[in-house]
Amino acid sequence: MMNKMQIKTLEEYHEKYALSVSDPEYFWGEIASEFQWVKKWDKVLEWNFTEPDVKWFQGAQLNITENMLDRHLEKRGNKLALIWEPNDPKQRFVRYTYRELYEQVCVFANALKAQGVEKGDRVCIYMPMIPELAISMMACARIGAIHSVIFAGFSANALSDRIEDAQAKLVITTDGLNRGPKQIPLKRVLDEALENNTCVEKVIVYDCLGWFPYMKEGRDIWWADVVAGQEKKCKPEVMNSEDSLFILYTSGSTGKPKGVVHTCGGYMVYTTYSFQNVYQYQESDVFWCTADVGWITGHSYIVYGPLLSGATTVMFEGIPTYPDAGRFWQIIDKYGVNQFLTAPTAIRSLMACGEDHVLSYSLDSLKVIGTVGEPINEEAWKWYYQHIGKGRCPVVDNWWQTETGGIMISGIGNISPMKPTFAGYPLPGIQPVLLNQEGKEIGGPDEEGYLCIKFPWPSILRTTYGDHERCRINYFSHYDGYYFTGDGAKRDENGMYRIIGRIDDVINVSGHRFGTAEIENAINTSNLVVESAVVGYPHPVKGQSIYAFVVCDHEISEENRDFTRGEIIETVAAEIGKIAVPEKIQFVSGLPKTRSGKIMRRILRKIAEGDISNLGDTSTLLDPLVVDEIVENAL
Ligand code: WTA
Repeated sequence: MMNKMQIKTLEEYHEKYALSVSDPEYFWGEIASEFQWVKKWDKVLEWNFTEPDVKWFQGAQLNITENMLDRHLEKRGNKLALIWEPNDPKQRFVRYTYRELYEQVCVFANALKAQGVEKGDRVCIYMPMIPELAISMMACARIGAIHSVIFAGFSANALSDRIEDAQAKLVITTDGLNRGPKQIPLKRVLDEALENNTCVEKVIVYDCLGWFPYMKEGRDIWWADVVAGQEKKCKPEVMNSEDSLFILYTSGSTGKPKGVVHTCGGYMVYTTYSFQNVYQYQESDVFWCTADVGWITGHSYIVYGPLLSGATTVMFEGIPTYPDAGRFWQIIDKYGVNQFLTAPTAIRSLMACGEDHVLSYSLDSLKVIGTVGEPINEEAWKWYYQHIGKGRCPVVDNWWQTETGGIMISGIGNISPMKPTFAGYPLPGIQPVLLNQEGKEIGGPDEEGYLCIKFPWPSILRTTYGDHERCRINYFSHYDGYYFTGDGAKRDENGMYRIIGRIDDVINVSGHRFGTAEIENAINTSNLVVESAVVGYPHPVKGQSIYAFVVCDHEISEENRDFTRGEIIETVAAEIGKIAVPEKIQFVSGLPKTRSGKIMRRILRKIAEGDISNLGDTSTLLDPLVVDEIVENAL
C-alpha cells in the first residue's frame, strides 16, 4: 500500500483536492480500497450535521490491528515497527519487529480476554510512554474493547472522573513512571482514584520501576502474571466500520471533559492518509513524534498512522531537557530519524537553551520536520527551520484537533509552499470555511473568521461518549450545517490558512487543552474561595499560561494570602493535575460582570495580557469600579 496514496507534486495535490470535493465518495472509496477489509462497504458516506450523524464505509467489516500488524507480516515481518527510547540514555533501548509486535499484541489480547474483557467493554489505560502502552491499545482493538487512554499527568480526581464517565471495567497501569530525574507513583494515584469506584473489576499492573505497590486482593494483577502462558495468536474480532475504536477525553468550554469517540473504519483510513502525505514517509524511513500517547497526537501519529502504514515509529519515554537540552537531537542521530514531529512549546524551550546543544549533532537524516498543538510564532518557526532543519527540511505545521482525529490543514512534505506561522492548505477531503459573526462565509483574503468545516472527513468525531446532545451543542449548533472548531483563523490571497487560536474558553498550555470552567471549578472547591475567573495570557515558552482572578470570602491578610494561594495551587493539582496550575493568582474583591451576572472575560483577558489601554466600555458593568481595582493590582 505504501506510497500509493501519496501525492507527489503540487499539481497532483490540486487535482486530488478538486476530486475530493467534486466526488468525495469516489475519492475516499479509492483510498479505502488500499486496506484489508473483512467485508467491503455498501456505501462510502452517509451524513448530516444536524443530529449529527456521520457514517463512513457503512456495512464494511474490519479489524484495525489486522491492518497494523497481520497485513505487514509477509513483507515486513522483520522490519522494525517500534523503537523505544528510555528516559535514561544509559538504559537499553527496546526494538520490536512487526512480527514481535504482532505476537505481543496477541498475547496481551488473549490475556485481556482471560480477564473477562469483551467486545464493547471500556478499558482505561493510565500508563507512561512505554511500549506496553501501545501494546495495550492494540490488544483492546484486537478484541473489540474500547480503549480510553488517560494522560499519566492527570490527578486522581481527573482520572476517577474519566474512568467513571467511561464506565471502564478494567484499568491498565504501572507501578510508577520515569520523567527526567523524577519518578512518579502511578499505581498510588490510581488507587486513590478507585476509592469509591464501582465499575472497575480488574487492574493490570505492569512492573516498570521494580517497586512493590499495594495490590488489592481480587482486583489487582501483575502484567507478567496475566500474560503467562497466553498464545501468540489471537483471532481479530470482526468490527463494523462504525463500531467505536476509542474514547479520548478532552477539555471544552464547559466544565466537564468530553469523551470524544472515534470509530474503526474512518479513523484507520484518515490517519494513514494524512500520515503518508504530510510526512511523505518512504519504506526505510524512521519516523518520530515526541507527543505523549495520552493525547490525540500520540494516538494518531505514534501508534495508529505509522503502524497502519508499515512504518518504523519511535516512542520516547523521557523529556526534551533530560539529561540535557540536546536529548532530542541525540535521539535523532542515534536512530537516523527521517521525519520528526514536536510541539512549539518544546521548540521554544530548547531554543532558549542555545545552539550549543544542537551543534553537537549532525541531524543529517532529517527530511521533514513538523510542529503541532498550538500556533507557532515566527521566531520559533525560523529557529526550527534553520537550526534543526538546517534550511533543508520543510517545516510542516499540522493544524488539527482531538475531535478531527487526524491532521486537517498542513504543509505536505516539500510539495506545498511554506510560510512561517501559516499552517497552509487543507488536505484533500477537508473543506474548511471562515465564518463571520453572522455565520456568513468570508470570501476575501486576510479577514479573520471562525474556522468551521462544511463537509465530513473519515475521522471526524462521531459523538461524545454517553451524551450525544453535548456533541451536537458543542460542535454542530453554532452555525447550521457546519462543524465548529473553536479556532479563529485567516486566509491569505493564495488560500493558505493561518490559525490564530481558540476563540472559546479553552486555554492551550504547552499544547495541553484546558477549559476555563474546569479550572475554575477546581479553584472553587477550595473552602476559602467564593468565586473565580480564569483566562489565558501569552507566555514565551508555554504559548499560553493561566491567570486566575480569585474572590475570597473575607478580607485576607498578606500572610493568609500566601496560604490561600498555596491552597489553590494544591487544589488544582489535586483536581486536574500540576499542568493546570495557574501561573498567576490575583486576589480581587469582585469580578467584572454584566448586569445579568455574566463574567466579562474579555476585560480580564486584556488585563492578563497587560493591555489596559483599551478595555472597552465598562460603564454597563454591575460594578465598574472593580475594574480599576483589578488593573491597579494586576500581576
Ligand atoms: C490548537 C492537538 C495552531 C488549536 C492536535 C486546536 C493548533 C487545539 C495547531 C486542538 C497548529 C493544534 N496551529 N493551533 N498547528 N494544532 N492547535 O485537541 O487551538 O489537543 O483547536 O489536538 O490546539 O488541541 P488538541
